[in-house]
Amino acid sequence: MSTSQTTGSITFTLFDPKTHVHLLPSFVQIHIDCITHSHTVASFLPPLDRDALTTYWTSKVDEVRAGKRDIILALAPGTDGDGDDGVLAGYVMLADHRVQAAPTAGVEKLLVSLDFRRRGVARKLIVKLEEIAWSKGLTSLVLDTEEGSTAELIYLRFGYTAFGKIPNHAISPKDGSKKTLTYFYKHLEDGRLEA
Ligand SMILES: CC(C)(COP(=O)(O)OP(=O)(O)OC[C@H]1O[C@@H](n2cnc3c(N)ncnc32)[C@H](O)[C@@H]1OP(=O)(O)O)[C@@H](O)C(=O)NCCC(=O)NCCS
Repeated sequence: MSTSQTTGSITFTLFDPKTHVHLLPSFVQIHIDCITHSHTVASFLPPLDRDALTTYWTSKVDEVRAGKRDIILALAPGTDGDGDDGVLAGYVMLADHRVQAAPTAGVEKLLVSLDFRRRGVARKLIVKLEEIAWSKGLTSLVLDTEEGSTAELIYLRFGYTAFGKIPNHAISPKDGSKKTLTYFYKHLEDGRLEA
């Protein structure tokens, strides 16, 4: 398995704690933009506390170091902070929830920068995520989205199967209303997403 792929000018690669930690402020900024501009249900609610989001992403990096999580990056040409490997265009996480009896993983926080939407970044992030999951034997993927959201539509297009809903299970960052979540699964033995 290659560790990175380039499509157009954007590169899709695995987060490496040794070289990509300088991108953490960009992780936080994209997360904030998705909550405040796109009203994405994504763990935090306004008023957003940048320090709390930084702590959240630092804990995810710790899980990468522990081998329990992968973060797939979309990097566009340019510089980001003090690094020279590109501008963060988006990301998604693969959380290893495997037990002996089930090769399960979670797909979490598919978030694309406002500046890079509708260019196929999300599709290619999921292509890369599924490639990595497959290589690790994590063949049963599970995720949730907000009912009626763009993400719900996109995961259907990506071949994920909706299997149930939990009503009023999350709070909208837009207006504090309760939101229903739709749960999806995908068995990679049945086929993987193509770029
Ligand atoms: C949802 C999101 C990840 C899509 O990212 P993106 O890079 O713009 O998506 P892509 O360009 O890869 O498009 C993927 C598919 O969805 C479709 N699509 C993307 N945005 C769409 C929209 N707003 N409405 C309808 N279809 C849309 C594309 O046409 C494409 O279809 P195809 O692959 O069959 O051609 C992005 O809008 C985002 O970050 N939103 C806020 C955060 C969020 O909702 N995350 C997901 C849940 S945590």
